[in-house]
Amino acid sequence: MLKIRGNNLLKGVIEVKGSKNSSLALMAASILSRGKVKLINVPDIVDVRVMLDIFKYLNIDYIFEHNELFIDSSEIEYKSLMIDDVKKIRASSYFMGSFLSLFNHVEIYNPGGCTFSERPIDFHINAFKEFGVIVSESDNKIKLDSSNIHNGYYYIPKVSVGTTIDILLFSSLHENMFIIDNVAVESEVEEVIKFLRLLGVEILKIKERTLLVKGKKALNKDVEYNVMNDRIEAGTLALLGALLGDNLTIKGFNMFDNLYLLNLFNKLKVPYTIKDNNLMISRHIDFEGVDLETNPYPFLPTDLQPLISVFLSFGKSKSSIKENIYPSRISHVFELQKLNFNIEFNNNKIIINPTKKLIGNKVYGKDLRGGCALLMASLLVDDYTYFYGINYIERGYENFLSRLKNIGALIYEEESNFD
Ligand code: EPU
Repeated sequence: MLKIRGNNLLKGVIEVKGSKNSSLALMAASILSRGKVKLINVPDIVDVRVMLDIFKYLNIDYIFEHNELFIDSSEIEYKSLMIDDVKKIRASSYFMGSFLSLFNHVEIYNPGGCTFSERPIDFHINAFKEFGVIVSESDNKIKLDSSNIHNGYYYIPKVSVGTTIDILLFSSLHENMFIIDNVAVESEVEEVIKFLRLLGVEILKIKERTLLVKGKKALNKDVEYNVMNDRIEAGTLALLGALLGDNLTIKGFNMFDNLYLLNLFNKLKVPYTIKDNNLMISRHIDFEGVDLETNPYPFLPTDLQPLISVFLSFGKSKSSIKENIYPSRISHVFELQKLNFNIEFNNNKIIINPTKKLIGNKVYGKDLRGGCALLMASLLVDDYTYFYGINYIERGYENFLSRLKNIGALIYEEESNFD
């Protein structure tokens, strides 16, 4: 449990760590080389550690030190992926693509991850079927066989990061031609494309959202790749700066990954400057409310929605956010109400009215970003707040508490039976 004393301005320098979602996808892509891969700038977070536990089970060697991950998958063994670790992270779905590429078959539990919403994998499965994969599904298990696949075309019905990446992984070692349409263009997808090209996979961008992939029988075996910084962590810290910054410097802030957020800051007149990937930002509240909605890149990312909900509470008029990607990603709304945030969920929208006097209370984070939004909210209460659920935050933000304490956050870790 955390005891948090809010309303302290944050100053100094905080650095953005490597991208969680890129690292997880690149780890799943690395094993396609059946050789040595070095990934630089990998965050040391729980989800990465779970992925490494799966690696260990599969006889993949690794060394993970100082955010550098050396992977040697030359001794990888086929094993059933009906193991509990698969249920802990969403990125385990990428083993479907990688294993079909490597072994032509896979048996796996349904992937897990944050449970803020139903998170189906029907697009992944339908794409595989479209390419000739034999699928059998029962309860929570999936069995796939790609021994008799053919060239194919799949139009992803709704832009999906995971489906795009999984099909890319699937295509990499199959010597066929696959056209994937309506692909996601999130930076994490771009990372996987760059990495697979380094491995030798031929990926052509036919149109902005159409890819043609020609797999190869074997890929390059000695590759090094520098993972991008985490754009959601960058956005999280920028919002924290807009709420509590006293010339807070966010190092490693790539403006091109957060253009939507910066444009919002421009509209709301939040004072910031950017120089050499450093964002300097200070507190700016009492802006006019805005109506936003989440959408795939380059628009407002769903992962920032809970955090922006907190930010918009400090405007001087009503705001709203329509969550189009995960309409039920709203658990933070009810917890924020406990701190006296004037926020509600109505007619498929999060309605955010200006806050009055916030009050300290016990709050419970229930997923990664929702939990982080509550932590941020607690830092704004001029009182003590008791926060439960740090384990969710540790899934995606490396060493977050001590980094926040370094810039002036008053956070005290206390023993509790509930955490
Ligand atoms: N969808 C389907 N069927 C599918 C796949 C997706 O209906 O087979 C729907 C989803 O329900 C959602 C939309 O398509 O409405 C987009 O989902 P997407 O596939 O893009 O999500 P994902 O790949 O499962 C990744 C991130 C999430 C992030 C989303 C959206 C990883 C490991 N996870 O999930 O990150 O919210 O993209 O950008 O990369 C987080 O970091 O906190 C997180 C949840």
